[in-house]
Amino acid sequence: MKIAVLPGDGIGPEIIAEALKVLRALGEAFEFEMAPVGGAGYDACGHPLPETTLRLAEAAEAVLFGSVGDWKYDTLPRELRPEQALLGLRKSLGLFANLRPAILYPELAGASTLRAEVVAGLDLLFVRELTGDIYFGTPRGRRVVKEGPFAGSAEAFDTMRYSEPEIRRIAHVAFQAARGRQHKLTSVDKANVLETSQFWRETVGAVGAEYPDVTLEHLYVDNAAMQLVRNPKQFDVLVTGNMFGDILSDEASMLTGSIGMLPSASLDAAHKGLYEPSHGSAPDIAGRGIANPLATILSAAMMLRYSFERAEQAARIENAVKKVLAKGLRTADIYENGSERVGTGAMGDAVVAAL
Ligand code: IPM
Ligand code: MG
Repeated sequence: MKIAVLPGDGIGPEIIAEALKVLRALGEAFEFEMAPVGGAGYDACGHPLPETTLRLAEAAEAVLFGSVGDWKYDTLPRELRPEQALLGLRKSLGLFANLRPAILYPELAGASTLRAEVVAGLDLLFVRELTGDIYFGTPRGRRVVKEGPFAGSAEAFDTMRYSEPEIRRIAHVAFQAARGRQHKLTSVDKANVLETSQFWRETVGAVGAEYPDVTLEHLYVDNAAMQLVRNPKQFDVLVTGNMFGDILSDEASMLTGSIGMLPSASLDAAHKGLYEPSHGSAPDIAGRGIANPLATILSAAMMLRYSFERAEQAARIENAVKKVLAKGLRTADIYENGSERVGTGAMGDAVVAAL
């Protein structure tokens, strides 16, 4: 099992080290190859996604990714910013299906900013389209306005677009995910305003005919944003375009109060995947050994499940994480009075011990 390991920036290297510890403890035949990405790629090779890193990721069966970004790269032109590495990997590897679960662990119920009864037992899954939409639409750029009240001024533009096959394939992923869960799918769009969204709604609806066992509902994105904080437990699986999914999945992750706990998978059609924590690089706490490695450890579990068909090993890791939480071990981000505060390395060690 060949795994490209891309630690990246900020807390990336620290949390990846813990995930590797856990994977090594399974005693399976993993081959890890490391490469720089993001700001680290820029520092080493002058580009956030160096050619050698991309080749390594292409040759591997799965990519384990830490996080990218740091304030010190904020002044770089957009095409050299660390985030471009992630966008480049998604596009080059065809990772169109982004799975972002938001689960509230019972032990962490107090971490949410919402009342316990609103979020207790929360378990939803975002299926976000990841290689289309306004993120990758052309044309984009800047020009001078030709007509109207702003004629002669500068303007910037991006293009929101979706093709039918792009919508169909993400819809299939979402319906299949719903089949393995509570058989409910909510499709999010802005069909009251946008042409792409009307097309999205029609196409998801047509795919739905193949899944009569799954209840499909359509929701406007503004209403979805509201419903997520009003009554998030009404949802099972949500499917969204790239942009809406970016925004709503951050909102959903915060329902759990602990973004440091949430893993994610980005998959191609053949289940090759990139696995990364849902949180970012947190440069403010980098190098201090206090970051929560559990989202990355749980991302490694997702990797075993989706790319290597090792569902049992994935469940072992997930159960080990639950055990450690039940024991009262907490990193700073999920610390509560009465629990035992541990650092990044001690948390990784505890998961290995629980395994
Ligand atoms: C995410 C991030 C990325 C995105 C950025 C870093 C490009 O916010 O994975 O959600 O917008 O997709
Ligand atoms: Mg985001």
